[in-house]
Amino acid sequence: MIKADVIIIGSGIAALQLAVHLNEDKNVRLLTKSKLRLSNSYLAQGGIAAAIGVNDHPSKHLTDTLEAGRFHNHLEAAKQIIYEAPSLIRDISGKGNVFDMDSNGEFSLGMEGAHREHRIVHSGGDATGKNLSEYFIEKLPPNLKVEEDSFAYELVLNSEGTRCIGVKVKRQDESQEIYYGNHIILATGGCGQLYKYSSNAKTVTGDGIALAYLAGAEIMDMEFIQFHPTLLFVNGDTKGLISEAVRGEGAILVDENGTPIMEGVHPFKDLAPRHIVSQTIHEYLKNGSQVYLDITSIKNFKNRFPQITELCEKHGVDLTKGKIPVVPGSHFMMGGIKTDLIGRTSIPGLYAIGESACTGLHGANRLASNSLLEGLYQGKKLAEWLNTVQQDPIEIEVSNHKKGCQRSRKLPDIQEIQEFMMERVGIVRSEMSLKKQKKWLEQFKLEEISSFDHFSISELTKIFMLFTANLITEAALQRTESRGGHYRMDFPTEDNERWLRKSIIQQKWEMEKRYEQIETALTT
Ligand code: SIN
Repeated sequence: MIKADVIIIGSGIAALQLAVHLNEDKNVRLLTKSKLRLSNSYLAQGGIAAAIGVNDHPSKHLTDTLEAGRFHNHLEAAKQIIYEAPSLIRDISGKGNVFDMDSNGEFSLGMEGAHREHRIVHSGGDATGKNLSEYFIEKLPPNLKVEEDSFAYELVLNSEGTRCIGVKVKRQDESQEIYYGNHIILATGGCGQLYKYSSNAKTVTGDGIALAYLAGAEIMDMEFIQFHPTLLFVNGDTKGLISEAVRGEGAILVDENGTPIMEGVHPFKDLAPRHIVSQTIHEYLKNGSQVYLDITSIKNFKNRFPQITELCEKHGVDLTKGKIPVVPGSHFMMGGIKTDLIGRTSIPGLYAIGESACTGLHGANRLASNSLLEGLYQGKKLAEWLNTVQQDPIEIEVSNHKKGCQRSRKLPDIQEIQEFMMERVGIVRSEMSLKKQKKWLEQFKLEEISSFDHFSISELTKIFMLFTANLITEAALQRTESRGGHYRMDFPTEDNERWLRKSIIQQKWEMEKRYEQIETALTT
């Protein structure tokens, strides 16, 4: 049995930002199911959105965020995070030479979809996630112990079931360990790998959502999955992301005849919000067309996008021809574990930050480059809070160490889960496709699983994927309208009457109430 003050599960930007801001007198463990550098954040190309340019203002960034999120956002959460963005960037830039600067020594600001201003701070052209992760990894303090290949498979609650006090972990050799901690932080990312086509790292399979859900934490907005319009598509499969910043620099989407496909679809054309671009490409592909990014107007493509150039060359795409074959694929989960701004969930002692959390910043569709921003914000705020909060002793008598061997369970292949999710709960959904998926999921009788101890890591991965798939499918069935990343062909428009009933003012009131409840729970 191992005990720590803070246990961080995951190794993306939110986790690293938290780790470097915690006081050095804390005993901190960072557990990651694979390797420290294997995360969605590490793969991030575009950058971090911040109203930092001379003509920009956080109010404009906020407006773009709400518009892309189709006003499903939590206004207060969005406001707090966006107004803090410039100082989060300056804080990092003041300590290290991380971001790309222009010849005047100002931040070089890129453009991405649905932004009205150039406001994407980037690093190494298209290597923002990698460079930022390395910047943090170098700063990891000595009080933090990183444990790789450690798969978190069950959260441990106290005997009353009212507080999270630990996590059960399996290693590659299937040995298991319980880690107890005063504060357990889920920074496990989203669930992109639930889909056949995805920009996400192979490890991003929805574990954190399933863990929190099984422990009884509130989960929200799971129907809102963002499909990025442009994943490199070669030999019938996706090979990685082609950043939206490529369209920000002037590339346009064309069909096999070179005809632009976004003309007349949205006033922002190729830089329309992602759900609109993805739905348009989906329509073309369904009708048998091929879609390409025409990059002929971009000068110095290789300098501005070194990683994308390498990716294309690796997969035999000749960039001198000026056309990159693309398809949309799952990219980001807007919903997740319901948290307040600093990551407190509905279970005291359990926190979620980054993509696994749902603060409400993104609404129904995330604005490009707002995700690293949210991770930086939450990581820092949670560290500040944990550095000051009084640490209650935790009782180490475990109530949910469940008995029973449940090894012989029928489970599908990962490919089967991914194909069915793409087809039935993907870019376009309907009651029929969702009910079909629900029925398919029911055969695995997930609700009958009472103990996770006896499953292997690969079985647990599939079980967690199925739990998360179920949450998405149920939420998508319940939302009988189309909004942002959730498109129902049987309800193709937004139901604004329903939206008005749950207006932003009401959401603000609900959020304040929740803060009060959590504060009370933590101080009593
Ligand atoms: C991209 O580079 O297109 C991805 C950026 C993001 O998802 O925010």
